[in-house]
Amino acid sequence: MEKVLVLDFGSQYTQLIARKVRELKVYCEIQPFSLSAEEIKKAAPKALILSGGPASVKEENRPYPDERIFELGIPILGICYGMQITADHFGGVVGFAKFREYGRTKLYTIKKDVLFLNLPDAITVWMSHGDSVTVLPKGFTNLAKSEGIPCAAFANRAKKIYGVQFHPEVAHTPKGKAILGNFLFKIAGCSPTWTMASFIKEKTEEIRNKVGNEQVICALSGGVDSTVLCALLNRAIGNQLIAVFVNNGVLRKDEPEKIVLRFKDMFNLRYINAEKHFLSHLRGIVDPERKRRIIGNEFIRIFEREGKKLGRIKFLAQGTLYPDVIESKSPLGGPSATIKTHHNVGGLPKRMQFELIEPLRELFKDEVRVLGKELGLADDIVHRQPFPGPGLAVRIIGAVTKERLRILKEADAILLDEIRKADLYRKRWQSFSVLLPVKTVGVMGDQRTYEAVIAIRAVYSSDAMTADWADLPHNLLGRISNRIINEVKGVNRVVYDISSKPPSTIEWE
Ligand code: XMP
Repeated sequence: MEKVLVLDFGSQYTQLIARKVRELKVYCEIQPFSLSAEEIKKAAPKALILSGGPASVKEENRPYPDERIFELGIPILGICYGMQITADHFGGVVGFAKFREYGRTKLYTIKKDVLFLNLPDAITVWMSHGDSVTVLPKGFTNLAKSEGIPCAAFANRAKKIYGVQFHPEVAHTPKGKAILGNFLFKIAGCSPTWTMASFIKEKTEEIRNKVGNEQVICALSGGVDSTVLCALLNRAIGNQLIAVFVNNGVLRKDEPEKIVLRFKDMFNLRYINAEKHFLSHLRGIVDPERKRRIIGNEFIRIFEREGKKLGRIKFLAQGTLYPDVIESKSPLGGPSATIKTHHNVGGLPKRMQFELIEPLRELFKDEVRVLGKELGLADDIVHRQPFPGPGLAVRIIGAVTKERLRILKEADAILLDEIRKADLYRKRWQSFSVLLPVKTVGVMGDQRTYEAVIAIRAVYSSDAMTADWADLPHNLLGRISNRIINEVKGVNRVVYDISSKPPSTIEWE
């Protein structure tokens, strides 16, 4: 399969480069900037893209690629820092520009080149730099200038090595995708053949070859990733896949029933109702991290027990996605503090000695949705909002009891019903209810009440790393509040969470 490698110098836009290339139907992977020329040769990419990055070429400890990559004969496009490091390698000079450019600026082409094929002579581009190329390296031609700098794009056509100071990968460069397309198709000779249909064909073959006649076990939660994973495996190996759905007792109202109903005929499904087990382990636990650990550990224990019952199973499938893979490989990313212990099945393979299958590890989240659609999953599944592994336990502040679960399930069902009716479900990253550990005084039908408080949370986000609290129309908030207070026994007050992440987090625990 044809592929392009992006060498990552730490730019916040690196992932965007990969996504844009994939949108152009060319398969693309992100690799650390330090990847050796041998490894690159082995991967045999059609082109290399050097990302931007926060460092300065003039710093002593600047990230520098293996210099032999420039002699492999593979077409290269350097973006921002990637252009500067290219200039540096070939003997050009990088200095402080008279004007630092941050934001939109105009780019004027000086020389006709296929990189700008079918584009006007002046276009809007997005810049974000202090340094820039002040003296061109030998063998390079200046292709464009901007309002602030004399060399904003260059090329060594013979070597097919290009550089652009601006960011073609961001939406603020409206013609950026066309420029990337020109590089890929006109300069590097790529062809736009990477589609979801081709991905499915390739992955199903790969899975069949790997699995043979063995069985694969997979945890199904009903969320987007695990459902798409099961659908793909099901397409590849049918009943050799055993999809295990564990009801941990902290799922949303009617969720276990809905999942079973929906998937029992679609997959070789095993339903384990472990509601009582989880609730008894959670009894009296108030500390958020303890709740998370208990749910994570008990999940593993139950999954393990089920695995043993099924006899020898060789493979475990996991819905690892590409951003997790990049994060764990990044040479620049330091260890970050554990804010919350995330619950997933990462602890399983070590204890159970499965061989791992991770067919989604090359995909971004939105590509997983496209894959799900292509595999025939319904819209309401592929566009589900994220739901945390520890479920409602981290949305019930304080101890989890049957009664408090009932209150939160009912309140949350009302909230989601109203959000859907208002056609906002897909327009918010998440929207949910939280049950607070306080009671307040109210009055209902002349009677004093002393009951629980529900908080409403809705956020915008693109990756859950950061999030903005989301607006909900006043009349919708009014309806949700009215319905919750009137319909859910035990609640007499509803409040609205207006905190963003950071400094808050999306979930309350
Ligand atoms: P926070 O609360 O950390 O959440 O801002 C970020 C995103 O992750 C989801 N979340 C989880 N997902 N297992 C998961 O699979 C977990 O343990 C977990 N905790 C939080 C949360 O819903 C949000 O989308």
